[in-house]
Amino acid sequence: MVKLDTIISLAKRRGFVFQSSEIYGGLNGFWDYGPLGVELLNNYKQAWWREMTYRDNIVGVDAAIIMHPKTWVASGHVAQFSDPMIDNKTSKARYRADNLIEEHIFKLKNKNKTDIANQIEERLSKVEKNEDYYQIIIDFQIPDPVSGTTDWTEVRNFNLMFKTFVGPVEDESGTVFLRPESAQGIFVNFKNVMDSARLKPPFGIAQIGKAFRNEINTKNFLFRTREFEQMEMQYFIKPGTEKEWFEYWKEQRWNWYVNLGMDEKKMRWKLHDKLAHYANYAVDIEFEFPFGFGEIEGIHSRTNFDLNSHQSHSGKKMEYVDTVNQDRYVPYVIETSGGASRGFMAFLINSYNEEKIVEDGKEDTRVVMRFHPKLAPITLAVFPLVNKDGMPEYAHQIYKDMQKFFPTQYDTSGAIGRRYRRQDEIGTPFCVTVDGQTLQDHTVTIRERDSMLQDRIPVSKIREYIFDKIEK
Ligand code: GAP
Repeated sequence: MVKLDTIISLAKRRGFVFQSSEIYGGLNGFWDYGPLGVELLNNYKQAWWREMTYRDNIVGVDAAIIMHPKTWVASGHVAQFSDPMIDNKTSKARYRADNLIEEHIFKLKNKNKTDIANQIEERLSKVEKNEDYYQIIIDFQIPDPVSGTTDWTEVRNFNLMFKTFVGPVEDESGTVFLRPESAQGIFVNFKNVMDSARLKPPFGIAQIGKAFRNEINTKNFLFRTREFEQMEMQYFIKPGTEKEWFEYWKEQRWNWYVNLGMDEKKMRWKLHDKLAHYANYAVDIEFEFPFGFGEIEGIHSRTNFDLNSHQSHSGKKMEYVDTVNQDRYVPYVIETSGGASRGFMAFLINSYNEEKIVEDGKEDTRVVMRFHPKLAPITLAVFPLVNKDGMPEYAHQIYKDMQKFFPTQYDTSGAIGRRYRRQDEIGTPFCVTVDGQTLQDHTVTIRERDSMLQDRIPVSKIREYIFDKIEK
């Protein structure tokens, strides 16, 4: 398994992801996407958007990040959106108590101390209140990873919502929150969308957008950050049909990752032992990160908790009225909720390969990012074989022509093998080389990244050739 540091350093070196405000020492939990990162992220979100909304009964919205503060009272976030926090008195380091315990279990398992790890895991699965976390930490003498000591404070609740003020007065009356999930922007628009788009259950509303959580511990690169993007879809259904739709969306979402090239051996289901305040069934799709399995998407059966609650807090009806069958109900909801930034990171890890190769008769080693062609930040690179005899001009023209259809790079520097290596490392699926023969018969070689096989095709067919392969 690739090390996380290897991914972070490649991401920086090749311009996928930079630490936010790096020149000032960075800001914990915030990251910036560089030139290749933004292409990959956009392709990832676009793949999701097409999958979810290019179908009969799902439409999109793009709601404001700052919503009426009552939204978060109704959703339960003001009262309940908190994590158990614990401080170490020596190092002053602060931790999420459940994460501290989980990481200790992970370390024990790596040292083959499975008996004790299993005992802690068993206790963790039964936790009901903050004191239970505290007791595990004390009973098993779990040390602070920084100071190594066990002088802990008690475990307290810490609300994860970022507060700010709307308008010129900084007081309680103007207090608002940066949304901690995009889903509420969908719930509050449920009636607007259903009526304006003339929809009836079952139907879905999809949204991609930023969410903010003042996470106690931000680490593992993009896995747990304070600003991130979610791709969420709420599927509104008739009460009583939730089990069948839950199963349907579980299968749809799993297959989406697999069809985009995620290695099924690195994926697993995780059933929720403890359900969130709104859910009656919930399951996560997990991916194997270098630090262990972690959630990339949750599929939740949210009952009609949110719509009911918005109905009572706003006084506005949130019902679907079926005039044909003389029926009315507040729909139930199946939610699919994936992190765009977390999924992006999973695909960076999933795509990374180091291998020894023989290409054009030469031995070499290469790092290759095996992104699905739909996700690859650059689709095509164009090279002249040598920088003379009209080849650069010919290659440059192909580059200009192809740029209209997909992200394309033009590279003239170094031996052709070096140029392939540079493109492999950023996952470019196709490289076209203009050589002496091109000038005679207007054909080029096109090399496929994973197999490294080359085809000779007419210049006029490059675009069609690539589109065919991307859609496969
Ligand atoms: N609307 C439901 C909801 O927000 P969640 O399980 O809290 O559910 C859904 O979040 C997804 O959002 C997660 O599966 C994860 O991919 C992503 N996510 C949550 N917190 C995150 C964080 N701090 N940093 C990055 N991604 C996060």
